[in-house]
Amino acid sequence: MSAPLPGLRVAVVGGGIVGLACADELVRAGHDVHVFDPAPAAGATHAAAGMLAPAGEAWFGEEALLRLGLDSLARWPAYAASLERRSGRDVDLRTGGTLLVAADRDDLAELRRACAALETYAVRADELDRRSLRALEPTVSARVAGGALLPDDCHVAPRRVAGALLDLLGERVVRARATPTPDGVVLDDGRRVVADVVVLATGAVGVPHVRPVRGEVVRVRTRDAPTRVLRARVHGDRVYVVPRAHGELVVGATEEEHPAGDGPPLPTVGGLARLLETARLLLPGLDTAEVLEVVARDRPGSPDNGPLLGPLAGPGPARVLVAGGHYRGGVLLAPVTAVTIRAHVDGLDVPPAARPFTPDRFATRPGPDDKDHQPCTCTSTDDPTSCPTAPC
Ligand code: GLY
Repeated sequence: MSAPLPGLRVAVVGGGIVGLACADELVRAGHDVHVFDPAPAAGATHAAAGMLAPAGEAWFGEEALLRLGLDSLARWPAYAASLERRSGRDVDLRTGGTLLVAADRDDLAELRRACAALETYAVRADELDRRSLRALEPTVSARVAGGALLPDDCHVAPRRVAGALLDLLGERVVRARATPTPDGVVLDDGRRVVADVVVLATGAVGVPHVRPVRGEVVRVRTRDAPTRVLRARVHGDRVYVVPRAHGELVVGATEEEHPAGDGPPLPTVGGLARLLETARLLLPGLDTAEVLEVVARDRPGSPDNGPLLGPLAGPGPARVLVAGGHYRGGVLLAPVTAVTIRAHVDGLDVPPAARPFTPDRFATRPGPDDKDHQPCTCTSTDDPTSCPTAPC
């Protein structure tokens, strides 16, 4: 392990929650950091529901990603406390777990398979019958088949986290589009900024092997808000509902593959109709909820659903590090990503859970620009072994 090198010039390209968290960590480590983004925190961060839910989001065969999520979840209480202390902003970190809900017997069979998988990873999942589930959350439909409590998941308000980071970074955030060059970045107006290190945190744009996966969310306000995060399977369709302050709920989220360059993400009638109908079957009280906002954004999806964290071969002499491809986990994974990128910058030990997520793990796979490339679609199937792009 080499000694930290203080005072490097770092250009972070991309001011979503991941780029901002990396920048804040690097400033605290003594580096001279600037973040470049024409609209900071307006991409996937703006739509994110803020689930810190490695158990709730776990998927069959993704143990390394689960471990990374658990590592980052463990960092969140101290991370939120530090942000709040330094910025004076409340980021609304809440505990209470995720409540999995199954609407019918088929949904329940799927839920039990998910809980059994979590148990093999030594993650707690407490199965609940309908009566005990509704005792915890009386707003849930009386017709559901059953559920389970994942007690350790948490959630946070991503827009507040981003607001805190933006306040802390102040004028270090430059509202401009930047493109990496061999010795730093060049801005849209032609200005060149020399940097020793470029951190590529551009989400679904310009990161090798990362593709946009569109998601739509609806924010509503109701008097009948559940107190916990609900993740439900309703006659085969999935939905989650995340409570925020003042009776607000974030209802999400669709997942649609769109070709890169398919225009700005806009909500579709079909996507919203499915989302709202599924949510209403889960929470009948939503019938009278007020719709506050409808948002669509692109998540940065990688071929194995895990992030890309670490060095990328660059045209030199500036070192290029990537912090991208966080897919459904940008908010959850922000703290461990920041520590990992700082470790690469300063030659420190990378957290063990982050070590499998090197960007070069896809080097032998076809990239999204290759004509034979097909994005992994197994997260949208019931049976991961049926993935058409296997091994995915
Ligand atoms: N993490 C929730 C989502 O991506 O929809």
